Amino acid sequence: MLSGDKIEEVLGFAEKQVRHLVETYPNFFPIYTVNGKWYHSGELWTDWTGGFLAGMMWQFFRRTGSPYWFEKATHYSRLLEHRKHDRNVHDLGFIFLNSYLPWYELTRDSSLQEVIITAGRTLALRYQPKGGYLCSFLGPQSLFIDIMMNVPIIFYAAIHTGDHNLMEIAVNHCRTTRTYLVRADGSTAHEGLFDVETGAFLGQSTHQGLSPESCWARGLAWSLYGFSKVYALTGDPEFLEVAERNAQYWILHLPEDKVPYWDFCADLSQPPPWGAQKESSSAAIAASGLLDLARQTAVPERAIAYRSTALAMLEALCDSEYLAIHTPGWEGILKHAVYHTRKNLGVDESVMWGDFFFVEALTKLALEGSSRS
Ligand code: GLY
Repeated sequence: MLSGDKIEEVLGFAEKQVRHLVETYPNFFPIYTVNGKWYHSGELWTDWTGGFLAGMMWQFFRRTGSPYWFEKATHYSRLLEHRKHDRNVHDLGFIFLNSYLPWYELTRDSSLQEVIITAGRTLALRYQPKGGYLCSFLGPQSLFIDIMMNVPIIFYAAIHTGDHNLMEIAVNHCRTTRTYLVRADGSTAHEGLFDVETGAFLGQSTHQGLSPESCWARGLAWSLYGFSKVYALTGDPEFLEVAERNAQYWILHLPEDKVPYWDFCADLSQPPPWGAQKESSSAAIAASGLLDLARQTAVPERAIAYRSTALAMLEALCDSEYLAIHTPGWEGILKHAVYHTRKNLGVDESVMWGDFFFVEALTKLALEGSSRS
């Protein structure tokens, strides 16, 4: 059972880890640890996680009101502003919705909202009209499931500017993702490949999952939470249906201890990293998404299942098997996450987004608790 005191203890530990990170390596935005340390010369693959560090600071500030976290959150958010014009990544939602959006919501300073809208317009430039999708950083032929967590910034820009073209791009992207990457049973493919001349779909593929036909755990979590966020922004039930289909697959396939293996199709008789390798960041993402989905579904039994699954996953992550609280010298918050198995990056390590979504989910619970008391 996750008591309010337990949540406070764990979030207090998270604050300690982030404080250590920013005081040891000022102005540094890490992606994954190596042997538990954030600072190393390992490859980035792509530079997409800055918003998660700033985002944790905003989460800490929302819960504690501490001037220390306000100062750090504004400073680290500002360091990201230039990325609003970055055309090399598909991750501008990750970067700005977790940094500038909480800042804007707190202050209502319209110049901060302008940054978010500009970033949304930049992301929309990745649109491939023939195929009807926003392409991944790898090129115009490639659609990633991860982009479902970023397309909300285009919806946000469309809603706050009244720009119908932006809205059409965002809706088309979601529909194309649903058609080609989300399967009938709710599982997901990591990538879809398209013919850039005709826009025709060529097939499913993967970079971070086991195979084109498998279900990479983090990809499923991105889809579940991304479609839930799109439903929150649009109120369109066609997107809620996809998030619920993802949730059903997630709940049905979750192992007994509530923390998924890196790919739902991995052969668990084989050793890590290709076999029985846990992936804690996907549990944190899905837990945060399921807490929201529990409020969105129209079916009371599902609401109970989503919330109880989220709580069970968070409770599992609070155990010292995953939480680094009793691992001296470890700089991350959650252990046993995986960034990229094939490239051997951040395998069985801490990752910035795993720590962020864990903090986000626990903060949702902490703030619920404080509004009740
Ligand atoms: N590139 C996004 C992820 O690793 O999930």
